[in-house]
This record gives sequence, C-alpha cells and structure tokens, in this order.
Amino acid sequence: MSGRTYDVVLLPGDGTGPEVIREGQKVLEALQEDGVSRLRFTPVAGGAQYYQSHGTEWEPGGEARARQADAILLGAVGWPGVSLPDGNIAGHGLVLGMRFGLDLYANIRPCRLYPGVLHRIGSEFKQVWSPQDVDMVIFRENTEGLYTPAHGTLSRGGSTEVAIDNRIITRKGSERIIRRAFEAARRRPRGAPEDGVKRVTCVDKANVLAGCRFFREVFSEVAREFPDIETEFSYVDAFAQWLVRQPAHYNVVVTTNMMGDIVTDLASVLQGGMGFAAGGNVGDHHGMFEPVHGSAPKYAGKNQVNPFATFQAAILMLEWLAERHHDEGLRSDAQRLERAVTETLQSGRARTYDQGGTARTSDVGDRVVEALRGGTP
Ligand code: IPM
Ligand code: MN
Repeated sequence: MSGRTYDVVLLPGDGTGPEVIREGQKVLEALQEDGVSRLRFTPVAGGAQYYQSHGTEWEPGGEARARQADAILLGAVGWPGVSLPDGNIAGHGLVLGMRFGLDLYANIRPCRLYPGVLHRIGSEFKQVWSPQDVDMVIFRENTEGLYTPAHGTLSRGGSTEVAIDNRIITRKGSERIIRRAFEAARRRPRGAPEDGVKRVTCVDKANVLAGCRFFREVFSEVAREFPDIETEFSYVDAFAQWLVRQPAHYNVVVTTNMMGDIVTDLASVLQGGMGFAAGGNVGDHHGMFEPVHGSAPKYAGKNQVNPFATFQAAILMLEWLAERHHDEGLRSDAQRLERAVTETLQSGRARTYDQGGTARTSDVGDRVVEALRGGTP
C-alpha cells in the first residue's frame, strides 16, 4: 500500500536530544517534498529535564500517544543529578519503559563505516578502517537479561549492605532475538566483508554462565532452521578484541542484553564514533528508533553535536515502516535519504567537532536537505 500517512511521535528528551531531533525532522520533511508516503509528526515532551520542572517523566497524555504511534523517534534522555525516587535515572520511562511496555525485544544496531568518516584516535582524526571492512549488524536482546527489574538492595538499620541484580534468560526471549538475527543474515544482500559469507556470531560467556549456556543451546536449535547461514560462537571477552582487530569478519552478531549494551558502544568506534551510531528498538508491533549517543549535557544547546546518528535512526525507521506496511514508496524514500547522507559525508564538508571539523548541527542538516533536493551537499 502506498500513499498512506504514518504517525511518528518525536521524543526529543534531554540535552542535545532536541537539537538532533530537529535536524531529523528537517531532513524527513525535505524527503517528503517528492515522496509518496507522508509522515505526521507529533512531538511529545518528556525526560529528565521535564521531570525536574514538572514532576512527571511524560507530558500529560504523552505516553499514550507514543504507544499508539506508528513509530517513535527518540532523541536522548538523562540529565546529571536528576533521578526518580526508585533510584532509576529520570527519563527511564521513555527508554526502558517503552522497551518493556511495548515489548521491543530486539535492539538492532547496524555498524557500518561510511566513506569520508574518520576515526578519532587520541587527539587525531584518521582513517583506520575502510568502508569495505566494516558492515555488520548487532542484535541485542532488549527485554530481559540483567535489565529485568529483578533486583534490589538489602538495607538494615538504614545502611545498604547488599545489592543484587538477577539475570533472567528465557527461552522465549532468546529464541525471538536469535531468530531475528538469522532472518537478517538471510535478507542482507552481502555476507561478511572479509569473505562474503553469511554468518551469525553468537556472543556469550557460556564458559561460566548458565544463562549463556542456555542462550547457546537455543541458538543451536534456531540455527537448524537456517542451514544456509554459517554459525560461530565467541566468548564476549575474546569477541571484544576480535571486533576491533578484525571487524571485516563480522556480518550478524547476536547477544544478550548487557553484553550487547557494551559491545555495541565498542563497535561504534569502528563506524566513526557515537555520532554515527543509531539503534532500532523493535518488537512485533512497535518500533522506536534512536541515536544512541545520549544527552551529552556538556554540548547541550550549542548546536555542535553530530546529527548523523539521528539520520541513521530515521533511515532505520523508514525501512522498518516500509517492511511492516509493504510500502514501496517509503522504501525508496529510505534509499534516497541514505544516498543524500552518503553524499554529504563523502563531500567532507559537513564535519562536526567529533570529526575534527567546525560544522554546526544545523549546517549538517542543511547539507543533507541540499543533497536531497539534488544540489551539491
Ligand atoms: C542504550 C543505552 C540505554 C541502555 C540506557 C540509556 C538505559 O545505553 O540504548 O544502549 O543501557 O540500554
Ligand atoms: Mn548503551
């Protein structure tokens, strides 16, 4: 079906979140000048700063609007010194609340290096890997593991003595994220950059943890449904070093929640830093997309941060909507945005501070809009 209108809730959130979401909306609006499908944006206020001034994490009715949306585009949450009475960071409800509340069990983190993007090594900006070396996607379980709210503290006489976080690994949770990873390996046009092999790597700590042994067992069961896909296992500690030494070996990676949180940020270094890292939080019925750099309080309000991760998040959102609604118009919009972003990066004229440049957040958005309109970015 083509030509329908999709409701997108924008959750700018805290710190630099509003600045990058503004650019995201700008390029999505420019994209629609020639597109077939329409996006209708509804901004919803919320997060830690909102909590600080209003005493609630969401504006009235905001959570319900987010739940009903066709898709959510999230900026960032978190502000120094602002936490909820239960100790969680304020803004928790927007990220973890939506992940659990909407059952967004797959955290999908593509890690690709675009031409023209540099790596920051110490104080220098260098080309360490080439775009041909880095093209993987990491599937992180998003609704259990160490993030399950099965935790607490033991306080006696007013002093906390013990804190416990239980790690829950279920068959259902493991099976569905692992299946998603295999399906992605099958669908992706290319295999691993190193050898073109379609491969899923299971990252765990099965030499020590029972939950990981179970995760591996489920992985092996699901793998039988995909005899065309090569499989391998990697302990998370060893994986951390192979990831940075041989990124070209990796195609699709699947892992548990906390391990996935850590290795995806490590992987962002391969793609030029957190300014390029975007993630999808996806379930069977809902999707929330975000740049994963966080609220970056130090840069808030300065129009300096890199909005490319938000453009990536927007592309992921369009692709997901296109897939879900069999909307070819939206799919071609996603491709056009992808091309405009690539051209802009290649031009080297839209480098923010994290790339050694002086471009401002809004300049980068303007350049992408220009590229979309057929001009030189
Ligand atoms: C991420 C973030 C979140 C997480 C935070 C903001 C709760 O670091 O999306 O990776 O830990 O999952
Ligand atoms: Mn993280």
